Amino acid sequence: MKSGIYGAIVFLHVSSAILAIGPLFLLMPIIKRLRDVETSIEQAYLSIIKVIIRLVMHAGHVLVYTGVLLLVFGPWPWYTSWILMTLVILLLSGFFLARGFTIVLRKFKNPDADKNKILDRLNNTSWLYIGLMLIMLWLMVQKPMLW
Ligand code: HEM
Repeated sequence: MKSGIYGAIVFLHVSSAILAIGPLFLLMPIIKRLRDVETSIEQAYLSIIKVIIRLVMHAGHVLVYTGVLLLVFGPWPWYTSWILMTLVILLLSGFFLARGFTIVLRKFKNPDADKNKILDRLNNTSWLYIGLMLIMLWLMVQKPMLW
């Protein structure tokens, strides 16, 4: 059994992983419905999308902070292959993607914007984000020694 505080941090870490991935799956059906609704309903869907993105973003931050705490208090050094790979994926793509979400939503406010194009981009970004999160989830759970 994992001892006191460390165990609690692992629990927080895993809980935040759930909240950082799960809600994203709600985006796709909402994006699909957004394509053919009138402006007044559009706003309702958009506000749900914003809540989802904010939730995923906060959970993502908790995920990274608790991950760092696990490194500080735990037995795994930062250069362990599965941790390093997670960090590389996180740094190379995670932050750009997260910012991508906000930019896409901002574009929606522009009345001249091509709505379908923005929704395509939002859809692609969501799948890419889910894919990367699942790769990191695999690295964390399997802990493969890659070198
Ligand atoms: C800054 C990035 C991260 C660091 C430094 C980090 C660090 C760690 C460490 C050291 C453990 C091992 C805990 C233990 O078993 O003693 C762990 C477990 C775990 N991490 Fe991360 N993590 C990070 C990001 C992530 C991400 C992005 C996800 C999800 C996509 C994730 C999901 C998990 C899960 C589910 C476990 C539990 C696995 C298990 O023990 O079977 N972590 N993390």
